[in-house]
Amino acid sequence: MISALRLSALLLALLTLAGLAQAEEIASGSTFLSPEMRRQQDDPNRNPAWFWVDQGEGLFARKPASGEACLGCHADPVASLRGAATRYPQVEEASGKLLNLEGRIEQCRTERQHAPAFGYESAELLSLTAYVASLSRGLPMSVRADGPARPFYEAGKAFFERRQGQLNLSCQQCHDGLVGQKLRGDTISHGAGTGYPAYRLEWNTVGSLHRRLRACSLGVRATQFDYGSPEYLALELYLADRAKGLPVETPALRR
Ligand code: HEC
Ligand code: HEC
Repeated sequence: MISALRLSALLLALLTLAGLAQAEEIASGSTFLSPEMRRQQDDPNRNPAWFWVDQGEGLFARKPASGEACLGCHADPVASLRGAATRYPQVEEASGKLLNLEGRIEQCRTERQHAPAFGYESAELLSLTAYVASLSRGLPMSVRADGPARPFYEAGKAFFERRQGQLNLSCQQCHDGLVGQKLRGDTISHGAGTGYPAYRLEWNTVGSLHRRLRACSLGVRATQFDYGSPEYLALELYLADRAKGLPVETPALRR
């Protein structure tokens, strides 16, 4: 295990070499996969994340005791929910709350199906989110960062740029400043996050974007916020805005 101090020194040396963070075009996380992983990701028979998508499709059609199936209200989801994932996170007008796709699905679950919430990172919510997001595959991310979303966007941007943790590193220093550099066998990407929920080999399962964010927070020994926390939701909006125009790639495969 590499010590925090050594890692910090190594990264600072790399940052000095890389010079000032350049405002280049953002590329998707898949661009930074090895060719073999890329092939595995793109082959539905070899990318285990598709199992979750299939589970999600099954759940979508299942009627809970308390109300309608998702399918009962969202008929022909391949058409009716196509593109939905590209617009999340988004501010819900009525409540002024920022909702990501997981939050929106939980809302339908509790308020429209009158059933108990699945819970963040439950197999059910991951499957349904992966399924709904997969219906937007190939469509460009198109969140709104203006109007009521502006304060959330600003909070996310400030989070992204703030140095934090024992290593005193910002998200930006790695995901802008060190893009393309190797870190513990990974190639640092722009942190676009357009393939989540994704199957990560290290997890041996599918996980949400917030699970990945928690891993990055831990990596710099900073506070790990809760799944669905306001901090990570704002960050998710900022990342989605940075990734505007990039195609949805859910379900992705990651190391
Ligand atoms: C009783 C009807 C009903 C049920 C059951 C229902 N929904 Fe919804 N859902 C809606 C309505 C109505 C909206 C639109 C709300 C709005 O736009 O303000 C919506 C919105 C959504 C959206 C956002 C679409 C967009 O374009 O932003 C998603 C995703 C979604 N539902 C998924 C689900 C899932 C998954 C389930 C099952 C767990 C489910 N819904 C169950 C009625 C329902
Ligand atoms: C020490 C460098 C470092 C810092 C600081 C860091 N990350 Fe990461 N991050 C990584 C590495 C390495 C990966 C895995 C390779 C990749 O996809 O970039 C990763 C992955 C990600 C991913 C997944 C990308 C994908 O497509 O799978 C996102 C999103 C992300 N980081 C966001 C953040 C955010 C937001 C912060 C700040 C809270 C942050 N990271 C801080 C190194 C870092």
